[in-house]
Parts: sequence; structure tokens; C-alpha cells
Amino acid sequence: MINTKPPAVSAGVIRRHRRLRATPAVRALVCETRVGLDDLVMPMFAIEGTGRREDIAAMPGIQRLTPDLLAAEAADLADRGLCAILLFGVPHAKDDLGSGAYADDGVVQQAVRAVKGAAPDLVVITDVCLCAYTTHGHCGVVRDGRILNDETVALLARTAVSHARAGADMIAPSDMMDGRVAAIRAALDADGFTETPIMAYAAKLASAFYGPFREAAHSAPATGDRKSHQLNPANAREALAEAMTDLDEGADIVMVKPAMPCLDLIARLRTRTDAPIAAYQVSGEYAMLKAAAANGWLDEPQTVRESLTSIKRAGADIIITYYAAQIARGTI
Ligand code: PBG
Repeated sequence: MINTKPPAVSAGVIRRHRRLRATPAVRALVCETRVGLDDLVMPMFAIEGTGRREDIAAMPGIQRLTPDLLAAEAADLADRGLCAILLFGVPHAKDDLGSGAYADDGVVQQAVRAVKGAAPDLVVITDVCLCAYTTHGHCGVVRDGRILNDETVALLARTAVSHARAGADMIAPSDMMDGRVAAIRAALDADGFTETPIMAYAAKLASAFYGPFREAAHSAPATGDRKSHQLNPANAREALAEAMTDLDEGADIVMVKPAMPCLDLIARLRTRTDAPIAAYQVSGEYAMLKAAAANGWLDEPQTVRESLTSIKRAGADIIITYYAAQIARGTI
């Protein structure tokens, strides 16, 4: 027989943490981190035309939508309590200078107008980058095999202003060029958009977890990679320096991306700034969860909730996630 009688001394000595885990109600009382629908941002992909939707193979449940369908979907999500979307354009035509990014009637500009018409209170955030708009798939102007910083920044500022003119509520530069936040702030202010916030992709790693997105946005670089501007995943101090620079340049919100591989960066940035921190649970993170769930290897609702809770617990105020729509609809 095993003796299960506790030793006499333990009662007064051991710390009984389990007291506060005894029932669901007690656990709820001491819960430290809650993720609400109003913490989430839904990324959406706009294509040209009307009445068309396209599946994205590596991102089950996510589609590219024409502005009319995208606006209807956004309005439905807003009705269900979603506060914000992040818009990406997938243009038909591309050129060397990514001119579709800053065209008045570009695909994002059309989508912004449609969404603002259908759901005026939804916060429409626009991604500012050139990679989906350039034939070579790089995030900027390329000459002699190099991405030119300042020439690119000028086009990004132009893009930001054209998004604001179309009605965008917030601008999210994702290019990782130096000085873009300052240039975008100055360009927005000069055009009268002093009240339009900037959410800077501040600590954005050169991550393999963006793979499915590049299929979704047709934005993979034709040659080379993004390592001359995105951060080495090995470098935390450099990531923090990038984020602090973006804040110095006038960013209102700083983003860490990807999210789960960067929980340490979120936590460290949290101690450096009181500005809101956003974290982007990127396409590869979504694809991993979806694939494991489809195979019956993970419980999808529970793992999704745990992943979002971990990101918030690390210090993020805002989470950009492809699960936002499913959470808003209660289908997960
Ligand atoms: C554009 C951009 C990318 C993502 C957001 N904006 C791709 C990249 O940098 O190659 C990735 C988002 C995701 O993977 O979900 N520069």
C-alpha cells in the first residue's frame, strides 16, 4: 500500500497555488489576460473587378475579394463587433516603380472607398509597401540589384497620402526602409491628414512565416530576398532599436511581426515604451494552425485562443490575425 497521508509539516509550509485554480469561477476571477474581439484586426486582400472571390491555397478560409464583396464582408464583421481591418491590394498590373500603389484608382484606394461607404465606423488600416505592385516583387525601387532607400521612401509617402485621400483611417508602412515613418508623417501632415495615425511595422523580421502571404498577395520577390531591409531573426537589440526609431520618427503604434516567434521582442518592447504595441500573427502561423487542425492533430479553437492569449500576455495591445473574422462570426 502506498501511504498517501501528507507529511505533517507540509500544511503550513508549502504554498498552495492550487487554491486559486479550484473552480471555473475562481479561475475567472484571477484571470490576468483576456482577448476580446475589440483587440483584433482582420487582414483582407483586395482584387480588381466586381463580384469575384478567389481562394488562397495555403490559407484555408481566407479569400481575395473584389471591393464590392470586400466591403460587404467588412460591414458584416463590423456589425458583429470587429473594430478594424488591415487592407492589402493585389493589383492586376505591375510595373518597375509599383505605380499601382499610389494610383488614385488603385485597388486599395477603391477598396477603402467601398468599405468606408459600407461601414463608416470600421477602422480601415492600409498596408503601405510596393512589393505587391512591382514586377520584380521587391519592396522598393531597384537599381543595379539594390533596393534604393530614399527613392523608395518618396513613393511610400505618396502611397500613404493617396490611401488617406481615399479615406483610410490609419496607415501601416510594412516596407522597412529607413526614414519612412518621418517621411510619411510629413507627407500626411502637409496634405492635411494631421489626425491620421501611423502604425509602423517596426520590428519586422525577414521571416519564412510570410510564405503563404506571398502566395496570397502575389508578392514574392522574383530574385533574392528581403534581408537587406527586414530584420535578422537572430537580433533582438537591433529589433528594439528599429522600433524606438519608428517611435522617434512619429509612429503612433509599433508592430512586432511575426507574433509567436517574437514573444520575447513584444515583452522587451513593452518595457521600453508606453505606446500601443501591435503584433501580427502572420500567414505562416495561421497556416500551421489550420494544417494541424485539418489533420486532427490540434484542437483549433483552443490552440487559437491560447496563441492569441500568449501574444497579449507578452504585451501586445492589438493583434492582427487571420482568425479575426472567424472569431467575430463565432465559427471558431
Ligand atoms: C508586405 C507585407 C508582407 C506581410 C505583410 N506586409 C510580406 C513580406 O514582407 O514579404 C506578411 C503578412 C503575413 O505573412 O501574413 N511587405
